[in-house]
Amino acid sequence: MSTLPLAAHHVLPPRLLDVRGEFPGVPADWAYLDAAATSQKPRAVIEAINRAYAQDYATVHRGVYARSAHMTEAYEAAREAAAGFIGGAADEAVFVRGATEGINLVADTWGEQTIGEGDRILLSQLEHHSNIVPWRMLADRKGAEIDVAPLTADGRIDEAALTALIGPRTKLVAVAHVSNVLGGVADIRRIADAAHAKGALLLVDGCQAAPRVKVDVRALGADFYVWSGHKLYGPTGIGLLWARREILAAMPPWQGGGSMIDDVRFEKVTYAAAPQRFEAGTPHIVGAVGLHAAIRWVEDIGIEAIDAHERALLAITRAELGHLNSVRLFGPEDSAGILSFAVADVHPHDVATILDEGGVAIRAGHHCAQPLMRHLGVQATARASFSAHSSEADVARLVKGIERTMRIFG
Ligand SMILES: Cc1ncc(COP(=O)(O)O)c(C=O)c1O
Repeated sequence: MSTLPLAAHHVLPPRLLDVRGEFPGVPADWAYLDAAATSQKPRAVIEAINRAYAQDYATVHRGVYARSAHMTEAYEAAREAAAGFIGGAADEAVFVRGATEGINLVADTWGEQTIGEGDRILLSQLEHHSNIVPWRMLADRKGAEIDVAPLTADGRIDEAALTALIGPRTKLVAVAHVSNVLGGVADIRRIADAAHAKGALLLVDGCQAAPRVKVDVRALGADFYVWSGHKLYGPTGIGLLWARREILAAMPPWQGGGSMIDDVRFEKVTYAAAPQRFEAGTPHIVGAVGLHAAIRWVEDIGIEAIDAHERALLAITRAELGHLNSVRLFGPEDSAGILSFAVADVHPHDVATILDEGGVAIRAGHHCAQPLMRHLGVQATARASFSAHSSEADVARLVKGIERTMRIFG
């Protein structure tokens, strides 16, 4: 293998160079390159979660004692931080389990109210199943149609073709900000303008964008933006649905139960204002606290620095793997920190197994994007994805493992 072009390729912000030690779950000799599936957690997040359970724990919104009032403040501060992290306001932000739940919530409330027979929902060829299945289910219930925007040759959403597909019956455009398979970053502003010009709304699946690119929902022109905390160095089971204030205010309630009501009688129920109207039951209190710690951790480094770091590692990886004849690289050259590849005739599961033997964890499979796999003409890909703690040594291990795979399979 050729020598990795170290500092010549990029200058890493000093804060990033030493964060590996902040991840107790990532030993120095293990290359965790599956951050797009879920991120490892820095100590600051683990400690915040421990503290929340061991010292500060109580319910929120109901208790009249001081501990509960403090926990409520922490929960609401987390909402403000999570909304602010993507340029939104707290009253536009609903805590959900993750992106999947956020999209289902929109489909089952706004979609249920808005989409009728013959209406159209426009997706793209590269969507994650979370941004396909809820819309297919809604379309089946309502007699609506799904349209699919094609991709460019290098695997981005073809924005011109997408624009041409927006018709008078298109009520919603729903696309990923960053592809979980190919890493391409969509021009959301352009898509938003095209959707709005025809009276459609735009939902952005920000699951892979929030952890790695700067997001400003207002500058992007999004109407809905969803993401998952566990991909942003936070705990599982917590994520955010952001929706424009007027839209959220007009959406009917989703799940019924405690906390989401104003007045309950057997004959009639009135509901709380948004966002409480969408948070039935005891919420994931400690999840929110952990997410807040994760956001602080990311903001302390700077999301732009993480993005630059991941892109630099990706460029090195592409350059290194590009030298290997039997390796096929998918996706745009300038993608955010996610790279799918195939090794000649070796099944991606075999690639991942051999890499695992060498201390490299990658994902292999269809990545919950079967329509994209069909488009690429493969059943599965191998995928390496980077995060703040990834290093050039991780890339070197990956390349070494792929070379070993090629030797084993001749
Ligand atoms: C682009 C994209 N959308 C949605 C999801 C679903 O996220 P979650 O499983 O956290 O709800 C993922 C997770 O892999 C994703 O990568």
